[in-house]
Amino acid sequence: MEIIVCDDYDQMSKKASEIVSDIIKENPKAKLGLATGSTPVGMYENLVKDYEDGKIDFKEVSSVNLDEYVGIDKDNPQSYQYFMNEHLFDKVNINKENTHLPKEDGSLEESVKKYDKLLEEFGQRDVQVLGIGPNGHIAFNEPDDKLNMHTSIINLKEETIEANSRFFDSKEDVPKQAMSMGMADAFNAKTLLVLASGKNKHKAVEKFMHTDKIETMFPMSFIALHPNCYLIVDKQAYEG
Ligand code: F6R
Repeated sequence: MEIIVCDDYDQMSKKASEIVSDIIKENPKAKLGLATGSTPVGMYENLVKDYEDGKIDFKEVSSVNLDEYVGIDKDNPQSYQYFMNEHLFDKVNINKENTHLPKEDGSLEESVKKYDKLLEEFGQRDVQVLGIGPNGHIAFNEPDDKLNMHTSIINLKEETIEANSRFFDSKEDVPKQAMSMGMADAFNAKTLLVLASGKNKHKAVEKFMHTDKIETMFPMSFIALHPNCYLIVDKQAYEG
């Protein structure tokens, strides 16, 4: 694992985008695993700039996303589909048919099965971008006695609802469930790019730096098992 400590959010975003850009330059048909949330926004801004500057081309790139809220329409500005359109897909020449997020299509059970099938067909990604929750969650795999390998419906923990309420008018508006890739799915990539920024990630980053245990109650600890993982953090996340 390579741990890179950056001065600030901008440097972290630049470093992350350089890794993704290089992967796309090397392989124009790169398969990306993407994340939402506030952490990767700067990385997406840099990727859009690289595209505008003619450095990278998304024409043949394809993508899968980690997760989506349950009960939120894809046109709702709070949906992760909307987020991806806004921050990346609408700003580059990616073929939207080659981009995928978990979505409700039939019952929740059927939707989960469909996303698993899609992930199986999509195969291994060249890179998977991951953020971490303040509680160490990966995608929406919340700390628990057992973690899912594959797609499932997750009941979001109180602390995650609290953390994500900043995007909503009130805490009550935050969905209580999400459909999320499991841990095996989330790690099915040649390279993992784990990003953490800001004081509210310090507890998790510090715990990771000081533990030598893999714990389901701390899903972030599993990134230590991946053979090619970058953990890119800013000073605030690293030092508190
Ligand atoms: C988002 C995701 C989540 C976030 C995490 C951090 O697709 O899977 O695990 O990465 O909740 O969110 P932010 O970046 O908003 O702090």
